[in-house]
Amino acid sequence: MRYGHFDDARREYVITHPDTPLPWINYLGSEEYFGIISNTAGGYSFYRDARLRRLTRYRYNNAPLDLGGRYVYLRDDVSGDFWSPSWQPTQRELEDYACRHGLGYSIISSRYQGISAETLYFVPGGETLEIWRVRVTNERAEPAKLSLFSSIEFCLWDAQDDATNFQRNYSVGEVEVEDGVIYHKTEYRERRDHFAFFACSEPLAGFDTQRDAFLGPYRSWDRPITVERGASSNSIAHGWQPSGSHHVRLEIGPGETKEVIFLLGYAENPRDAKFDPPGSQTIDKRLVRPTIDRYLQPAVVAEAFEALRARWTDLLGICQAQTGNEHVDRMVNVWNPYQCMVTFNMSRSASLFESGIGRGMGFRDTSQDLLGFVHMIPSRARERLIDVASTQLPTGGAYHQYQPLTKRGNNDVGSGFNDDPAWLVLAVAAYLKETGDTSILDVAVPYDNRPGTERPLYEHLQRSIVYTLERRGPHGLPLIGRADWNDCLNLNCFSETPGESFQTTENRSGGVAESVFIAGLFVLAANDLAEIAALRGDGAEAARCISAAAEMRDVVAQHGWDGAWFRRAYDFYGRPVGSAENDEGQIFIEPQGMCIMAGIGLDDGRARVALDSVRQRLATPHGIVVLQPAFTRYHLHLGEISTYPGGYKENAGVFCHTNPWVMIAETRVGNGDGALDYYLRINPSAREDLSEIHRGEPYVYAQMIAGKDAATPGEAKNTWLTGTAAWNFTAISQWILGIRPEHAGLRIDPCVPAAWGDFTLTRRFRGATYRIAVRKHAGASGRVTRLRVDGRTVGGNLAPLPASPGADIEVEAFVEATP
Ligand code: GLC
Ligand code: GLC
Repeated sequence: MRYGHFDDARREYVITHPDTPLPWINYLGSEEYFGIISNTAGGYSFYRDARLRRLTRYRYNNAPLDLGGRYVYLRDDVSGDFWSPSWQPTQRELEDYACRHGLGYSIISSRYQGISAETLYFVPGGETLEIWRVRVTNERAEPAKLSLFSSIEFCLWDAQDDATNFQRNYSVGEVEVEDGVIYHKTEYRERRDHFAFFACSEPLAGFDTQRDAFLGPYRSWDRPITVERGASSNSIAHGWQPSGSHHVRLEIGPGETKEVIFLLGYAENPRDAKFDPPGSQTIDKRLVRPTIDRYLQPAVVAEAFEALRARWTDLLGICQAQTGNEHVDRMVNVWNPYQCMVTFNMSRSASLFESGIGRGMGFRDTSQDLLGFVHMIPSRARERLIDVASTQLPTGGAYHQYQPLTKRGNNDVGSGFNDDPAWLVLAVAAYLKETGDTSILDVAVPYDNRPGTERPLYEHLQRSIVYTLERRGPHGLPLIGRADWNDCLNLNCFSETPGESFQTTENRSGGVAESVFIAGLFVLAANDLAEIAALRGDGAEAARCISAAAEMRDVVAQHGWDGAWFRRAYDFYGRPVGSAENDEGQIFIEPQGMCIMAGIGLDDGRARVALDSVRQRLATPHGIVVLQPAFTRYHLHLGEISTYPGGYKENAGVFCHTNPWVMIAETRVGNGDGALDYYLRINPSAREDLSEIHRGEPYVYAQMIAGKDAATPGEAKNTWLTGTAAWNFTAISQWILGIRPEHAGLRIDPCVPAAWGDFTLTRRFRGATYRIAVRKHAGASGRVTRLRVDGRTVGGNLAPLPASPGADIEVEAFVEATP
């Protein structure tokens, strides 16, 4: 069943049942100020770092799962009845409930007893604040006397400390209230220069800043005493739980609409100008006040919202497809790039499954996220590449993550993942192919952020390659280290202590565990670096990379092939993993996708054989599972992978991140039907009808869909923050639809189902707009062999770089009837 529908024209998903199987969320903000918001207004906000600058509180693992958010309450001051227009937390029976999740905004609307309310939530561009614009319409025949209450609960900045350090935190909370604005200023008296503000456009009947005064003792958000009695108590928080609530009285005539604006924001003062008057303990509000005043004006809000919509129209215009398949078109044109933006911003920090406390920016994660983002805002991708590379270690290795606020690498989630450095090469290559901006290679970038260690980015890439070459095992394959892409394949851990982290515990030394997956990844990266070296005229390096890639390819051919698929690895003792010799975990998806993407097995037919094995053994209606047979017990020498019950996560779940690798592999062997078939199995829009089984949002990819061994096959988890977003975008746009930026031009190499006829694509690239018409007879399964570019025939399938920026380039691409 469905819980809503796509509104393609407005680029919104419209949820019409508030009680979705799980909270279905959206993101607010895309620069420095962010929030997550569920379809019933749950969620929280933060400035840049979800751990260190959390503005509002949220309790994960709560019951109900999604409680605490940006709630407004309405109260009929005549009857005393009150409700939440967003359904939660009061859960009244609403009419016409709808939550429209759009790009960077959500609109939640409903009607109750003749009163309609619509709240628009968004973050205006360039600002560190969020707007809640509430419109209340009286659809009754008589005038209505209503009270409107806002509510939030402040977080004392460091979300980890806030959730644990109660002996201190119950005594430090401080606020100020001035001219109707609530300022949260915990720790501002000492070392913090920042505070939060919560403002309202209307004169107040009252306010509250102490949570227990607002809710009343032993009450929850479903029946705050303040709302029940229709009067605030003007409480001022001293310790305990600082919160914010405004009370506005509304008299609305029949048919009339009143608009009320609330602002929640983050502000900083210069360290030496924190207080007004100086020497006092009162926040100096002179810097922030003009911003607050500005956004409390309806016209400014309306304009900022239009600007946000226009911004997305522009961003999405970079790559548009009209294929006639609605699931392809809406994901490629709207939702997949949107999710790519979110993953680029958040890495794996804040979602319904990521607490904002656990993980910063992952080295490999952010490098891969960039693949789906770079075409949208290359300048931000450039900045990110420099940030990531600045955390690289002098060995070429990497910290596994860094904190966005400090930009410093750390080992909190482990170290020594030997695949990490290779992803940086892929990311820089993608940036160069998209932009042609080779100047980035000369940027002086430090190692481990240490001043004095700066070397050109180009050298960082070289060290990434050398890192792998210097760490090879007895078969000549790359040593796996802590783990490779699969964090849970821990071949050196041998952990026997309950609760111990597989990522940070000391590895056993002396082993020879090797990864076939890293070998494939290395071939891709080395070939990318060879092209980059050639661009720089560094022929010697190009030659070195090409021969290193060729050598690794031979090693895979010799030691990575199991007979009908690529092996996964060799364990600590040098025994094969992912082999017919094993009793469980005989075949893994990752090396099939990665090795074939790298071109291994294309010339000797093994690629096709491996893909047939994938289809027979790993493919399910809900996507391709990681491995088979699932591990049924704990394997000490394999680590975390065997801790998950079968069918979940890395133990034979559909780990969606890996599926696009197989889609790309299918295009490499020319199987457009197979590639699109896999694409549609995990495409969220194509799974919309299964929402009661899938349970996650039908507009974004999930990291994992439970596999066939699970008790709940087809159930999605970890939606939003996953490399699945970038890789699916890459698979569908670059390999299936086939529009691929390269150093020398735009490759037009679709590999689509035979049944498809003509289709069109638009791609802005290097300052020009390519309008591409693919000419294809339904039934033809061949590839593009010739183009007509602005009327001139070009052999092959590479549309040349634009002669002049701003050009409009018409391309016709002709698909031959036979391969
Ligand atoms: C998670 C991690 C990612 C890893 C994957 C497989 O998605 O964020 O880095 O590659 O799991 O273990
Ligand atoms: C993988 C899992 C992720 C987990 C990490 C560390 O990346 O997918 O959920 O946090 O491993 O165990």
